Amino acid sequence: MLPYLLVLTVTATVQAQRVPGEQRNDSCVCKLSSSIWAFPTVKFEGVSNQVQTCEDNLIQFHKKVKDRNVQLPKMELTLKDITARLKPFEYLNTNGLYNALHLRQLMEELDEIYSTASDAHKKSPSKETNDLLKELTRAKKDVQNMYKSNVFNLETMKSRLRDLNNRAQTCKTIPEDFRSTCHQRIMSNISSPVVTKLNSISKSYISGAWGRDAKQNSKERYWEHCLVSGHKHGNTIRMYNSYEDFMASKNYKDESIAPSYSHTNAVQGSGTILYDNTVFYQCYSTAEICSFNITTQATKRLKLDDAGIDNKFPFCYYSCRDWTDIDLEADQDAVWVIYATEENYGNIVVSRLNPLELNITHTWKTHLFKRSVTSTFMVCGVLYATRYVSTYQEEVFYAFDTTTGQEINTLSLPFEKVSAGIANLNYNPVDRKLYMYNDAYLLAYNTFN
Ligand SMILES: *[C@@H]1O[C@H](CO)[C@@H](O)[C@H](O)[C@H]1NC(C)=O
Ligand SMILES: *[C@@H]1O[C@H](CO)[C@@H](O)[C@H](O)[C@H]1NC(C)=O
Ligand SMILES: *[C@@H]1O[C@H](CO)[C@@H](O)[C@H](O)[C@H]1NC(C)=O
Ligand SMILES: *[C@@H]1O[C@H](CO)[C@@H](O)[C@H](O)[C@H]1NC(C)=O
Repeated sequence: MLPYLLVLTVTATVQAQRVPGEQRNDSCVCKLSSSIWAFPTVKFEGVSNQVQTCEDNLIQFHKKVKDRNVQLPKMELTLKDITARLKPFEYLNTNGLYNALHLRQLMEELDEIYSTASDAHKKSPSKETNDLLKELTRAKKDVQNMYKSNVFNLETMKSRLRDLNNRAQTCKTIPEDFRSTCHQRIMSNISSPVVTKLNSISKSYISGAWGRDAKQNSKERYWEHCLVSGHKHGNTIRMYNSYEDFMASKNYKDESIAPSYSHTNAVQGSGTILYDNTVFYQCYSTAEICSFNITTQATKRLKLDDAGIDNKFPFCYYSCRDWTDIDLEADQDAVWVIYATEENYGNIVVSRLNPLELNITHTWKTHLFKRSVTSTFMVCGVLYATRYVSTYQEEVFYAFDTTTGQEINTLSLPFEKVSAGIANLNYNPVDRKLYMYNDAYLLAYNTFN
């Protein structure tokens, strides 16, 4: 056990208040050894309990003060002091692992997955849905046992839950064409750059995105979006009606997405995509995504629960790329959003969206720490992640297949770039090209399955 002291003695105008703990000077100390940062689980439980006890004592203390309804400024100060000292340990109670409340949340999450899986089972029963339901029932039993026994299975449980959730998402009825358009699932090769061009505005615009309208059978439209204001915000998108115009930087039209780059509908970060003449992007300074239909000039918004923003979970691998918390992608007939949540420990979460309604239809949770990759893109329902090799080379090293829930860690698909930093990578299912915003340069590649 670690040294733990909660000393609360208050010499006040009325009388001393005492709560359980050891009495010391005219002060209140809640002392926790810094050795807990070594992280062994046995100690963890101790510290967790300590924080819990300390808080319980505080609550009692607070209650006593309130019940007596006396003015005790010194007590208030004491309370503040303890609260401040406890602050660094708050994560122990909020990281979702260590108390009964979280077990209850776990159970609720399990129930939710169970109902998803059982819907899927009712609609189209299969061996997979059947196995999944069995496993979910087992998992529920395990959680019930956890109430009584070892709390530290909880972490393993969370991981199991994540896998079960992914399988339930995959079992959900997905339109036939979603599965059928991609036979050979995993990408095998990326060409040398087939386009290399400086963006049409300025070499100083090192962050943004570019590409071609990603909807099948849509008009051939190329687009370019540069971020201003500290490479953070934007409110216009440059549109070209042909590849020739794009290459010559002529006959473009600057479409306005929002009245200014600090407007609530402005763009934040470089995760932008164009699909069906509609710009999908992270809305200004919130954990929401926006869609702006250029045809109708209508904006829609959708909240992403728990998504980290403002450089909480940016793409990092080599050096962190600011304002890359939320990455929009498109393939075949869906738009995807890639982000990370605290609940998934900063690992990548990928949600499939209905682009017309702008709502989430599926959500998978991966084991890939978002800060450990440079960029991501989606092809045929497979999420790919890249890492920095050198200034002039990047490599696809990871894939997560949403139709099987499988993670592949053994990929090695290198490709060239002209500068170190990647602001955006997106795949276009129409021409099967990969588009990259490489510092101020616009690059494209052919891909092969
Ligand atoms: C108690 O107070 C004295 C004088 O203020 C100080 O020297 C001593 O270190 C304090 N003891 C503890 C345990 O905080
Ligand atoms: C990848 O493409 C390049 C260029 O077309 C070719 O030289 C190489 O052999 C291909 N590699 C594989 C594994 O297909
Ligand atoms: C954008 O608006 C056009 C015209 O109403 C519509 O056909 C298209 O489906 C819309 N696209 C999206 C993604 O909202
Ligand atoms: C998406 O929105 C449509 C229309 O509001 C609704 O019918 C559908 O059930 C929603 N889907 C989900 C998964 O929320």
